[in-house]
Amino acid sequence: MIPGYFPQHVIARKRDGHALTRDEIAAFVRGATDGSWADYQLSAMLMAVFLRGMDTAETAMLTDAMMRSGIVADLAGINLPKADKHSTGGVGDKVSLHLAPMVAACGVAVPMISGRGLGHTGGTLDKLESIPGFRVNLTLAEYRAQLEKIGLALIGQTAELAPADKKLYALRDVTGTVESIPLICASILSKKLAEGIDVLVLDVKFGRGAFMPEKARARELAQALVSVATAMGKPTRAVLTAMDQPLGRTVGNALEVAESIECLKGNGPADTMEVTYALGEQMLLLAKVSATKEAARKQLEVTIANGSALAKFRDLIAAQGGDARVADDSARLPQAKLRFALAAPQAGQVRDVDALGVALASLRLGAGRAKAEDKIDHAVGVSALVKIGERVEAGSPLCVIHASDEATLAEAKAILGKAIAVDEATATAADLIDEVIG
Ligand code: URA
Repeated sequence: MIPGYFPQHVIARKRDGHALTRDEIAAFVRGATDGSWADYQLSAMLMAVFLRGMDTAETAMLTDAMMRSGIVADLAGINLPKADKHSTGGVGDKVSLHLAPMVAACGVAVPMISGRGLGHTGGTLDKLESIPGFRVNLTLAEYRAQLEKIGLALIGQTAELAPADKKLYALRDVTGTVESIPLICASILSKKLAEGIDVLVLDVKFGRGAFMPEKARARELAQALVSVATAMGKPTRAVLTAMDQPLGRTVGNALEVAESIECLKGNGPADTMEVTYALGEQMLLLAKVSATKEAARKQLEVTIANGSALAKFRDLIAAQGGDARVADDSARLPQAKLRFALAAPQAGQVRDVDALGVALASLRLGAGRAKAEDKIDHAVGVSALVKIGERVEAGSPLCVIHASDEATLAEAKAILGKAIAVDEATATAADLIDEVIG
């Protein structure tokens, strides 16, 4: 505990609506890290912040204290600009898997520390672990060495990075204090800025399948993330993107890896590539590798056309112990026992593909976790998904379900039958890229 800063006094100051000082915030974060504040005091403080909020300066101080609660990776020895991308999470969002090698192939180091999927959103680490042998648990020394060697590392959160967030997030989860913009900002940014990056691009999603479904709230979160990261000296932009239907045509770990490989080969679905280019352009602009958005787009396209992004992906897999042959042969990824093509009940246009419904079907198949300790099945999920606005004939496939047994297949069929709607009305999907903030 920091002498002179009793938990009850700091809590009462926030409860009464005051802006906290740097020392008061440091006392709270120290209390979370060394256990000197009891869980009930930390929880009371989280609720006070939830109800009273924090201004940009306080949120930046909270982020800084949480970032410094552990090791901040020192990548100063790496002579390349260092950029990362973070998504607030969606359904079928496999963009990091192919965007990171594309950006790295443009001469930008991409130090990416990602999370696992929980609830309806997938996690980059789970997707990567569907590649046989792929290790996500590198030490910070291995992470640094790999970045020096190939300019790219995709790893999991280590115990040394932002430990205060681990403690506080677990308490938020059980005290109704997750949906607080200053707490979300500090949680996301403390981990991202501990990676040792120079610049950051955020994909903040809104819509039914998003962590923050309401567009106005998602925009508020994006603005807060950009203001706080910028106040901390890290040039940051956020791209606000729609998440009403899944991104791309696959949902499920190995299936999404296979789709990302197709993206790297130039065969990616239009919506996935639209988000990929929008984020990649901002990464190259902030990293000062491109002078204009058009030049950035061209550079990214070249990495696909000349195979350098796919080569970078092979390097990444090999460096982290995985079977790099999957980059040329997706059949080496785990395959589900059962495949079932779900037929359209009538001819017409696809009016809806509810991201949340597809995510729920995938969860039932075993592709995700309801609780953090649940095991996942990398092979299962949904592929060949139709998109809103596409024409289908009666009996033509709406998607292919990949299942490990008949019981979960039956459940997934029922859920997907309701999530995908076909009728005679003309339907168009909302614009995918809403706004770039920052
Ligand atoms: N993701 C995080 O890492 N933290 C939050 O608070 C919310 C989403």
